[in-house]
Parts: sequence; C-alpha cells; structure tokens
Amino acid sequence: MKPVFFAFPDACFKAMSARDVSAAKGKFILRSFPDGESYLRVQTEVRGKTVVIGADLRGPDGKFLPFYFLASLLRNLGAKKIVGVIPYLPYLRQDKRFQKGEAVTSRDFARLLSQALDGLVTVDPHLHRYKSLQEVYSIPCRVVSAAPILSRWILAKVPRPFLIGPDSESEQWVKEVAAKAKAPYVVLEKIRKGDRKVEVSLPSVKKWRNRTPVIVDDIISTARTMIETVHQIRKAGMKAPVCLGVHAVFAENAYEELLASGPAKVVTCNTVGHLSNGMDVSRLLGASVTGLGL
Ligand code: R5P
Repeated sequence: MKPVFFAFPDACFKAMSARDVSAAKGKFILRSFPDGESYLRVQTEVRGKTVVIGADLRGPDGKFLPFYFLASLLRNLGAKKIVGVIPYLPYLRQDKRFQKGEAVTSRDFARLLSQALDGLVTVDPHLHRYKSLQEVYSIPCRVVSAAPILSRWILAKVPRPFLIGPDSESEQWVKEVAAKAKAPYVVLEKIRKGDRKVEVSLPSVKKWRNRTPVIVDDIISTARTMIETVHQIRKAGMKAPVCLGVHAVFAENAYEELLASGPAKVVTCNTVGHLSNGMDVSRLLGASVTGLGL
C-alpha cells in the first residue's frame, strides 16, 4: 500500500511532490483559533497506512506543537507507521550540560520526536559531541548529505574555486565537497567567545590568490562565523568570497549583516525557507525517503 505524504507548506516541500517520495498526497487543515491555539483536521484516509510528514522546524518552539499534534492525530486515526522528514533538525547545539543546572535540550527534543515518530529523515544534522543521531534518538534516523548538491553548484557556478571550512569540525565534509568540486581547500581555526562573538584565523592562502574563495558551512545562524571569515579573506587580499550554507537559519538580522560584510554571493539549500535559497535538496531527500521502502 502506498504511503501518504502530509507536507507543511514550507520551501522544501513546495519543491518536493508526493511523487518524489513515492507516496500519495495527504490533505489536512491546520489553522489557528483566535487565541492562537491550533486546529487540525486530516482529510485523507490513513488507517493501516504508512504516513510521511514533511516540515521545516527552524524556529521549533512555535512549530513543534502543530507538528506533534499532526503526528499524534495520524496515529490516532490508525496510521501504521509515521516517518518525519525534517530537513533542518533543530535543538542539537546543547549536547552537554556545560554549566550546573542547564537543560540538555538535544536529549529532550530527541525524546519528544522519538515518541511522536517511527522514523526520521534529515539533512546534515549538526552533530558535535554526538557521533550519530542514534545516541539520542530511539527511532531509526536516516541522514542525507547535501555535499553533492554543494559540489554540483560550485562546479556549475564558480570558476577556479578554493574552498574554506570555518572550523576543524567542518573538515570532513568540506573535504568531501572539495573533492567532488575538484577544488583545493583549507580549514580555519575558530574560537567561539559567545553567541555572537567568533574569532577565526586563516592560514597562509597566498598561493590561492587567483582563485575564487568559497566559504562552506553547515549552519548560518548569527552569521558571525561567515562574517569573520569574509573579513579575514578580504584582509588576506583575496577576491570577495561566495558564502554557501546548508541550513539558512539566519537569526534576527544576520542575513543583512552578512550581506553588508561584502561577500560576492550568499547561497543556501532550501532545508530552511529563505531568500538566499539557491540549492534544492528536495530530489535527494525524496530519493532517500523512497529508499526506505515504506
Ligand atoms: C559550528 O560548529 C557550525 O558549523 C557553524 O559554524 C555555526 O553553527 C555557525 O554559527 P553562527 O552563524 O552563529 O556563527
């Protein structure tokens, strides 16, 4: 029996059709009561079927409840299995209790999602101290890498690219993007001194001066990492860099601040809907869901 695909109206799911995930389209109504509480109604039969829910959970505090209510309603209506497609997986940064009394929200969020779903598909989750999502998620998780999409974009749009990873954690996948884009790369040393204070140091890049610098990062949040890197690149006498990010989180006016720092271009994947979206992950994500053989 074909699964049924319920998508929230987010960027990635405007690009992704039910056909991309080999499913039938599920219909549901979500609206707010005047006091802001959610009303939901599922209009497609799901009894005994596998369902897939697609949602962009950037800014999860406002979006998680409707998502949770939909999953819970589908379960209640007899869905056999519920798989979440959450291209940007939030709540991964607090992966340890750094100070006494702090919440380890990554574990709490993982527990909530693991209760609501039977499986999860996401794109490049920001893992730091956890080696894999399975350390905190009790449901099977499938991770899609956006690296081939970034490499393809670079190959098509950037003449003589030279890739720059912002910190040592990024090395593994910057290396992969660089190899596929047939480009050299360096990795910077980054010290984060606060939510909005970052210092980066660029190694000698003299021999790459005639190339186009491309900064590649997984998340652009306050954009301080990108902004500081743009400054260092300009200081080193290189061309204005292209800034590529997977997840366009952009807190407050981070996007405007990044544009003001003088990059040649800022382009992101549509895992989070944003003005800067220029790389589409929907096909890759769809193929990954289809690959689950639901
Ligand atoms: C950090 O380890 C990540 O790879 C990103 O560099 C980080 O999340 C970017 O954050 P921000 O935009 O706030 O500097």
